[in-house]
Amino acid sequence: MYKFIMIFIMFVSASTSIYAQNGKKVFETYCWGCHHQTAVAFGPSFAQIAAKRSPEMIKGMITDPKSVSKVLGYQRNAMPAFTLTQSEMDSITKYILSYKKNNTTKEAK
Ligand code: HEC
Repeated sequence: MYKFIMIFIMFVSASTSIYAQNGKKVFETYCWGCHHQTAVAFGPSFAQIAAKRSPEMIKGMITDPKSVSKVLGYQRNAMPAFTLTQSEMDSITKYILSYKKNNTTKEAK
């Protein structure tokens, strides 16, 4: 029984550290191929996005690019949808908004 508890505790702490990934990690894992921090790649740079978008728009785009890209004024729909955990979603949104000029990262929810 003790062994089970130890395994359980190890499992829980390992998974929380996975979920606690910071925004940069999420960016490198999912977004880097198409977005760069300040340079335009296949998609717009995070600096450009941060300059004009709210956290809600960014999160919307990540979960449902098919409809949200239309709302943001794109004709094509070139970005795939991502299913991120709540904490990955929050950290990537904060990370993108940290490229806003004169940013106050604390405001980025
Ligand atoms: C396969 C390439 C690709 C990947 C991977 C990708 N994107 Fe995109 N993204 C695009 C393209 C292209 C656009 C421009 C909209 C369009 O053409 O549909 C875009 C647009 C966006 C926008 C809206 C831009 C605006 O004008 O505000 C956000 C926000 C965004 N991406 C965030 C992300 C995040 C966060 C990730 C990683 C979780 C990601 N993207 C991964 C290609 C990609």
